[in-house]
Amino acid sequence: MAEIVYLNGRLVPHFEAKLSPFDHGFLYGYGLFETMRAYNGRIFRLDSHITRLRCSAESIGLTHSVLTTDEGKQTLKAACMGTLEANELKDARIRLTVSAGEGDMTPDTGTCPSPTVLITARNLVPLPPEKYETGFKAAVSFLRRNSQSPLSRLKSTCYMDNILARTAARAAGYDEAIFLNEQGYLAEGSTTNVFLVSRGELITPCFESGVLPGITRDAVLQMARTSNIKATERWVQLNELVEAEEAFLTNSILELMPLVSVEGRTIGTGKRGKLTGDLLFAYRKLVDEALELDRRKP
Ligand SMILES: Cc1ncc(COP(=O)(O)O)c(C=O)c1O
Repeated sequence: MAEIVYLNGRLVPHFEAKLSPFDHGFLYGYGLFETMRAYNGRIFRLDSHITRLRCSAESIGLTHSVLTTDEGKQTLKAACMGTLEANELKDARIRLTVSAGEGDMTPDTGTCPSPTVLITARNLVPLPPEKYETGFKAAVSFLRRNSQSPLSRLKSTCYMDNILARTAARAAGYDEAIFLNEQGYLAEGSTTNVFLVSRGELITPCFESGVLPGITRDAVLQMARTSNIKATERWVQLNELVEAEEAFLTNSILELMPLVSVEGRTIGTGKRGKLTGDLLFAYRKLVDEALELDRRKP
């Protein structure tokens, strides 16, 4: 069966989807995306993903009605679900990409009258349960996150730093690359947010450090606060991570992945920590509950 993609209002086989050679997403990386996870045919936190995309779009001047109106929001949500269903997928990775669209050959977004909206979905096979016991090993990238750049807080299609850092880390045998910011403070992973546990307190770098406001990061902070676990967002030093009792990485696909070493230095016991395990369990319960509520909606 041909993969079906959503492109600018239509569901089409992927080989019929044509993007303009003058698309500013392609020419200049002027675009945003969301990566979402579907469980049993439902997309977890779909609304939050669309809201983040629309806030980010507004902040970079993408103001087409599909990105600003309530009707546009419903269109995007229905399009994500439609792409999932058209591909007959249950457990999937869904990517929603919005670029400035077709425009002039010069980098002037004013010449792009309407955005390109593309949605793709593929079957997702999660990492094996053992990986959630043994965890990820991370390298510290030589590239720095610029805490002053809006790019640090957007899920933008300018993903070059992330790709270079991730590729170098993987080539050296690590699972993930971690960015410090230009001031040397901990920022985030190439595709993840970072948490550490110190004296029983959950700590994650604050937005000002130059991190994406992760949907999973937000869910973890909410869960911690409702469970009376002290959770703090602040500037974090790299040595605090290395000396932490436990640590983990978050994103929508991985959920919570234990982080067991940085640059070969073991964190805690070198295995999944107790709080990490508890929070992973609670996160999966949260997913189940949210999807059950969604299923019951008329
Ligand atoms: C750079 C970066 N930070 C953090 C995240 C985690 O974001 P979320 O939890 O919304 O998936 C991602 C997601 O891919 C990312 O690319």
